[in-house]
Amino acid sequence: MCGIVGYVGEKKAQDYLISGLKRLEYRGYDSAGIVTLDDEGKATLLRAKGKIANLEEKLARAKRDDHIGIGHTRWATHGEPSETNAHPHQAGSIYLVHNGIIENYKELKAQLKEFEFQSETDSEVLAALINSFYQNGQYPLVNAVVQALKLVKGTYGIAVVSEIEPKEMVVARSGSPLVIGVGHDETLIASDASALIGHTKRAIYLNDGEVAVIGKNSIEIKTLNAEPVSAKVEEIETNLAAIQKGGYDHFLLKEIMEQPESLIETLRGRVNLKEGMVHLGGPGLSEAELRKIKHLIIVGCGTAYHAGLLAGYYIEQFSPELTIETVIASEYRYRSAYIPENSVALIVSQSGETADTLACLREIKKQGVKTIGIVNAIGSTIAREVDGGTYVHVGPEISVASTKAFTSQVVAMVMFGLTIAQAKGVKGAMLRPYVEEIAHLPEEIRTVLDKVPDQVRKIAEKHAEYDHAIYLGRDTAYPTAMEGALKLKEVSYVDANAYAFGELKHGPLALIDDRFFEVVLLPKGALYEKAVSNIQEVLARGGHVVVVTNADRFDLPVEDVVKIESSAELFAPLLMNLVSQLLAYYITVCKGFNVDQPRNLAKSVTVE
Ligand code: G6P
Repeated sequence: MCGIVGYVGEKKAQDYLISGLKRLEYRGYDSAGIVTLDDEGKATLLRAKGKIANLEEKLARAKRDDHIGIGHTRWATHGEPSETNAHPHQAGSIYLVHNGIIENYKELKAQLKEFEFQSETDSEVLAALINSFYQNGQYPLVNAVVQALKLVKGTYGIAVVSEIEPKEMVVARSGSPLVIGVGHDETLIASDASALIGHTKRAIYLNDGEVAVIGKNSIEIKTLNAEPVSAKVEEIETNLAAIQKGGYDHFLLKEIMEQPESLIETLRGRVNLKEGMVHLGGPGLSEAELRKIKHLIIVGCGTAYHAGLLAGYYIEQFSPELTIETVIASEYRYRSAYIPENSVALIVSQSGETADTLACLREIKKQGVKTIGIVNAIGSTIAREVDGGTYVHVGPEISVASTKAFTSQVVAMVMFGLTIAQAKGVKGAMLRPYVEEIAHLPEEIRTVLDKVPDQVRKIAEKHAEYDHAIYLGRDTAYPTAMEGALKLKEVSYVDANAYAFGELKHGPLALIDDRFFEVVLLPKGALYEKAVSNIQEVLARGGHVVVVTNADRFDLPVEDVVKIESSAELFAPLLMNLVSQLLAYYITVCKGFNVDQPRNLAKSVTVE
């Protein structure tokens, strides 16, 4: 979703602004813009609809040596994607870029009668409001920004520059992330630390309700109530290689293929095979607190929600006294759900910035419930607001479709479940198989990824013309099927849905015809035979079935069988999910769509 960058220093601001915006491209956007100011305050404003390449074409005719500037990639919320609606927005002598949503923009706009609005955006209203307090530089820019923000309802991460004060920029946040990169004779800002990589490793994460005045060698942070804030400089751990394609055609493929390594990072120092135990330090719950837990609420959106569903299936297998409820954040935040005593909430988010998930976290905290983050992005808002947490440590995930984060989120949550079970005294013999399989999962993933891609590519080529797909599974293979269907629809635009196999007869069976193909995830185990009967029902109706299984023998006349050869049994669905991920990837490549940035979607959904 929208991205912000800003620069003040000795180098050419335009260079960082463009390269920074490119780094943020993965978040999803539909227009982009930058403004820079020369030493006298003369502005060069460039905006373009569509890709950053369009902005670069304009830039080729408007290169400047200016040392200060701000930039933005916009993902339309108020007003269509267009040059006029793109940021930066100008109001008098100020320019603003904004992430988030100004909820009361209509009322504010009604009060700004003098101003001639150019765009349909809520962000331009904020620019005009700041300008009305600025009075052409009669007051310091920061004062005007603070006065305006005090009237705003909604969420924002903003950066503002003024033609009258061309040595400094003002930034502020409430609900939308902003990171300040501390360099030598330069200060950079971004809505996501990945834009700063290669420029500086030192970052300050602004908190909600804070505003900062930034110069090339100065950063002054205050709250909106003018209380000074002493900034904590943190180290950015990510390196450049982690945000590059590393020889792959697409980030999606790279991220699928790096799962053996990313899962190793999730497990590092947390699994003790000898004892058959896991050790998680991050949640920060004492043994007594863990023993008391009776109910787990798992909250997430999209893939994180599916990870929560799947983890819930596992945790209940070895935690007889624990009830588990996995919920969609955008629903749960408005429900009047009763949270029983001794509950703990797991807040699952790759980005750590998803607006609905964050809102749930805050609601749940208000009720005095302990919150534990299962987060990837270090220093993100959710990571900072939860009571404790377990980072999944998969490194940056650039492709909009989430893959490696899913695998590690499931495993991290299962490890949290194991931590509770250990504290509750569940017998080691019950838990050991889970611990052992988890410890060996990276190798098992590697084996599958070494073996199946070619076969999956061929299956994708055969199925690339279908517009509809059904994913089917039972038990742990059901949430896994949901994730497979989501992957396919988000990148290939195939209308893909998942059903619990047992539900087939209650409706979806009516769909089966030549327009559909079916992907069946078929793990060995207690429900194997039942699922095989279900496949026969589909075949009898002329279904086009692809089976993914770890069974030793499977001889129904389906179109394709992808064999998962692995000693992992409990977690075989996670291995089958690799096939779903690859299938989505290759079908999309066959269709010729933008694999890493599907239309209409954003990586980090920071608005409701
Ligand atoms: C977006 C992404 C999905 C992701 C979901 C939740 O929709 O495109 O891939 O699963 O947000 O994101 P989070 O960062 O909270 O895990």
